[in-house]
Amino acid sequence: MKDRIEGLLAKIRESAANLSTEEGLEQFRIAFLSRKGSIAQLFEDLKTLSADEKPSMGKALNVLRQTAQSLLDEAVENLQREKKSGKDVLDITLPGRAQHRGHMHIVSQTIEEISDIFRRMGFSVADGPEIETDHYNFEALNFPADHPARDMQDTFFITDSHLLRTHTTPVQVRLMEKYQPPIRAIFPGKVYRNEVISARSHVQFHQIDGLFVDKGVTFADLKGTLVTFAKMYYGSSLKYRFRPSFFPFTEPSAEMDISCYLCNAKGCRVCKHTGWLEILGCGMVDPNVFSFVNVDPEEFSGYAFGIGIERTAMLRHAIDDIRLLFENDLRVNHQFN
Ligand code: DAH
Repeated sequence: MKDRIEGLLAKIRESAANLSTEEGLEQFRIAFLSRKGSIAQLFEDLKTLSADEKPSMGKALNVLRQTAQSLLDEAVENLQREKKSGKDVLDITLPGRAQHRGHMHIVSQTIEEISDIFRRMGFSVADGPEIETDHYNFEALNFPADHPARDMQDTFFITDSHLLRTHTTPVQVRLMEKYQPPIRAIFPGKVYRNEVISARSHVQFHQIDGLFVDKGVTFADLKGTLVTFAKMYYGSSLKYRFRPSFFPFTEPSAEMDISCYLCNAKGCRVCKHTGWLEILGCGMVDPNVFSFVNVDPEEFSGYAFGIGIERTAMLRHAIDDIRLLFENDLRVNHQFN
């Protein structure tokens, strides 16, 4: 009897060490602890023993049953704890979760890159308010009273006198009011237009304006600076041309084109089959603008220019819809990492 009890104890310990499923627990209970299990069987056989053997063997059998029961209880507890902690679903062969690192938006990258080129040419960086007055946005920039840009159709007016600036050019007026020449600065920022949103236009976009005012500044200085910028930004082998244009605040005014690098000036969809891409507006500061800010046009002259940021990014990366730049679709944004 003693041997059978010891043999069974070894078996019970071995089985208990491998209890990891609910099914296994139940099998363990049935095999050893149920009414027809091995322990019950031994209790049955106890009856056949002699009177002096019975007490000690009975004691040993009770210990055996308690041991089996506490091993089972322990296994049940372990299994419940594992379930709660989710340990049973841990799959160490799964690949780790990727950590996505953020990066600058393509619009910010473009502003940074352009600013950097002008900084290296001695320009400082300035800014001004996005809510402007009619005076800075239009009047001091020599827009006539009946100019179409002053129409509600094109400009978001807040009150009769205040509006969301339609360009970054008013910062030049604020700078010239505050500082005496020489002034050499660029001013990037957000601008707003009351436009129908389409692939080509949006109600909010970005510009960088630039201004250089000093004694003896000429159109040749303007060309030299802007050609240097274009070559640094778009590539040194480009061809360029300046076309006469009109802006109320510059005289003469021009627009700068570069040869289309997407098709090698052969003509494509982006350059509208002309071989040329318009990249900015520019001109010599109109003496009327100087008169608003008390700079003497007899003593000083200056040039100014304005660059559309989204347009620049779209040309550089052949993006054909401005809305892609504002929708924050990560499939788009991550292409400019
Ligand atoms: N402000 C003009 C626009 O929004 C762009 C521009 C043209 C700015 C010529 C300038 C400039 O400073 O000289 O279309």
